[in-house]
Formats: sequence, structure tokens, C-alpha cells
Amino acid sequence: MEDAYIIQGGKPLKGSVKLSGAKNASLKMVIAALLFDGKVTLNNVPRIRDLDELLHLFTELGATAEFVDTNTVIIDGAGLKTNTVDLLHGSKIRSTFLLFAPLLRKFKEAHIPNPGGCRIGARPIDRIMNGLKELGGIVEYDHATGYYHAKLDGKAHGSYTFEKPSHTGTEFMIMLSVFAEGTVHIHNAALEPEIDDLISFLNEGGALICREGSSIIVTGVSFLTQKKPYTIVSDRNEAVTFAVLGLITKGDITVGPIDPKLLEVFISKVRECGGGVDFVGTDKIRFHYKGLFIATKIETEPHPGFMTDWQQNWVVLMTQAQGVSTLHERVFENRFAFVSELQKLGAQIEFDMATVKNPKQYYHFAHNPEKEYKQAIKIYGPQQLHSGVLTVTDLRAGATLAIAALLVPGESIVNGVSILERGYERFVEKVTQLGGDIKRI
Ligand code: EPU
Repeated sequence: MEDAYIIQGGKPLKGSVKLSGAKNASLKMVIAALLFDGKVTLNNVPRIRDLDELLHLFTELGATAEFVDTNTVIIDGAGLKTNTVDLLHGSKIRSTFLLFAPLLRKFKEAHIPNPGGCRIGARPIDRIMNGLKELGGIVEYDHATGYYHAKLDGKAHGSYTFEKPSHTGTEFMIMLSVFAEGTVHIHNAALEPEIDDLISFLNEGGALICREGSSIIVTGVSFLTQKKPYTIVSDRNEAVTFAVLGLITKGDITVGPIDPKLLEVFISKVRECGGGVDFVGTDKIRFHYKGLFIATKIETEPHPGFMTDWQQNWVVLMTQAQGVSTLHERVFENRFAFVSELQKLGAQIEFDMATVKNPKQYYHFAHNPEKEYKQAIKIYGPQQLHSGVLTVTDLRAGATLAIAALLVPGESIVNGVSILERGYERFVEKVTQLGGDIKRI
């Protein structure tokens, strides 16, 4: 099979999209399920490639993970039999390092390869491994094999302050601390809503975790058991992709169920640029075309700011906006690989070597003054884009190229779409339901 979409674009897309469960919550929650005694049932688990990959890995580790319904999975960690994650599967998904939490609990030591995931910047896990050390663990990295070796003999204890917040890092520290000796304080923790979903899931199972702003306090308990199935929060990144799709195709798309608070900054930017936004009941949002868009200035930030995962989609919207838009990526390095693909469609986008007063503080990645970064772009619009043949570079870029192809009249090919399908459930089906002409080959 080819790995591409053939798209005939240029039509306004209209209708409703039922959002899937959040990728960035479900990947963590299925791992956290291994901390429970007995079986755990999770609802609203998206059928995406990253999840399939992770659940396959579970069976190799001796745990069971079975879809009993389209989006319901039952996980049982009782059979965990090895403390080593294999290189082939373990290196494909970034979240695999979270497996240190259940594996260390059961085996006191564990071996996990350097995590993979999207090729966006270096994506080190130094701050996270430092956290494990601060809570009593021993960690060594073997450069020759690419493995992290960790030991935690006894219970996690102490406190940890993140130098800069880390989304998955915060989730790891929480999972590691659930069975702590006494109380663990995690400071400068990330604020992403998927973290709070994980906290609710663990607390329903008997954990004692509370958030006080950017501090998280975990009081150790001796076991977790699930009393009723847990339903994972909707994917706010998927919501943004379909919102932008509705706007750029001069269409009208309603997304839900989702708590509008999770998209507050995005919604205010849509309004600022002239897009239509209406709330439908308490958990649906309608995005519709109202007239020419206006250029915006955006800097990405962790939640509650304008999220890094939204900027790629937003850039397509800004190619249709009057004026010069700017976008400055603060969270990840090297997250503009999709720009050269959009340029193939005629987008006028330039890198802007904007100088920043204090880059070490401004950027969330570890900034190296010796290195040259391309962190900001200018987008000139409105621009009539044309069809083309595109190649997906990373997950969010994948959805970006697909929606750009749906905007332009004529036939486009998007190659490498299995990368997009790592994070978007039934993308082709959902676009087709909105009236889009898209075929998977
Ligand atoms: N960082 C370090 N050292 C660390 C940890 C992070 O330098 O030990 C850097 C990262 O390289 C990055 C920044 O700190 O530049 C922030 O990283 P963070 O750890 O917060 O991100 P993450 O947990 O790796 C998750 C999502 C991303 C999402 C970010 C921001 C998952 C699996 N991934 O990444 O989602 O962009 O948080 O919210 O939850 C995606 O879905 O396409 C995606 C990339």
C-alpha cells in the first residue's frame, strides 16, 4: 500500500465532528493503568497508531491490553514479566519512558531505550531523569546502546522543582510519586489539562494528588484499584485542526464534545483574525467563515498559552489573512519543517531571525548560544495557493498539509500520512463526512 492521501480540494467543508479522546492523555493513562491492582477500563481511547504501538509493547512486557469495543480498552498489568523495553518498539514513541514508573515499582530496576516520537528538535529527557534521581532513583545512560538504566530501591521520596515545566515530565513525576513515602512536592509543574485528566484518573483509583497552581502535591498510598471505568478527555489538538479546516475552506464546522475553556486562547485568536466562533450548548463550538481574515502575531507557549501543537495549522490560516503574520515558536526547536512543504503550494513564508533578549529564559528547550535556530516566521497573505505533492515531516505537520490540500482547488497528494495517523483517529472518515474529497491509498 502507498502511504498517501489523494485530495481534491477547494470545497467549503461543513458539518459536525465528534472529537476523539486525547492522544496526549490516553498514551499516559494506559501506562498509568499498569500501576493499578486488577483490571482497568478506559473509555474514549483513540484508535491511533501510537496507541496500537504502545499496546503491542504491553503484550511484549507481559501485560494484557485489549480493545473490547471500538474505543474501550481493558488493561491488566498483573502479568508484567520483564523490566526491559525492547529497542524496536520502545524507541518509536516518546511516552515509553513513563514505563519506568510501573516497571520500577514491580522490579526495582528497569531498562528503557531513549524515547522516539516526532522529530521535532532534540527533545531530551534530562529534566525528567533528574526528577527521578531527586526522588531517590539512580539513572545511567548508556550511549553505546541508547538505553537508560534506572533503579529505585524503596519508595520515591522528597521533592523536585522543574527548571522549566515539562508536560510528560510532570506526568512521570506524578506516576512515580503515587506510592511515595510520605508526601512528594513537584514544583514548576506543567499546567496542561491532560495532566489534570491523569490526576483525576489516578485519584478515582485511590491516589492522593492535588494541584495548587504550578505545584503538585502527592501523598503516597499503598495501592490503586479502579472502581468504575474512566473516560478520557477530548483531543483539543484535533479540535483545532477541524476548526482551522472549517475556517480556511470558507466552511462551517462544529466540534465537540469539548470544554471551551481548553481552547480559550485559540478561540480569542480566531475572533481576533475575523473568524466566526459560536458556542453550541456547553460542550460544542462552531467555527465558521465570516469574511477576509486579518494577520495575527503569535508566540507559542505551554498551556494556558497558544499551544505549540496548534501553530502549524494556524500558519495555513494565516496564508489566507490580510497582512503580515508572525509566529514565534518558543516550546520546541526545529518545529517549522512543514514550511518548505507549504511553500511548494505557493505560500509566502520567510524565516525571521528575530533576536530575543534572553533566549535561555524565553525558549522552553535548552537553548545553545553556539547554535543557529530558526524559531520565527513571517507569513504574507492573502495568498492564492495551488495544488501540489507534499511530504509529511511530523505528526502536526501531517494534519497541516492535509488541510492545506483541502483548501486548494485541484488534486494534491500528501505522502507519508501514517505519521499523521499516529495521532488522528479516522481522519479520512471525518473529513469525508464534512464533504471533503480525500482518499487513502
Ligand atoms: N525538554 C527538555 N528536557 C526535558 C524535557 C523537556 O529539554 O527533560 C524540552 C523539550 O525538548 C521541549 C520543552 O522542554 O522543547 C517542552 O517539552 P515537554 O516535556 O513539555 O513536551 P513533551 O511532554 O515532550 C508533550 C506532548 C507534545 C506537546 C507538548 C507541549 C505528548 C506525548 N507530547 O510533549 O505533543 O507539544 O507536550 O504541550 O504528550 C504532539 O502531540 O504532536 C506533540 C508533540
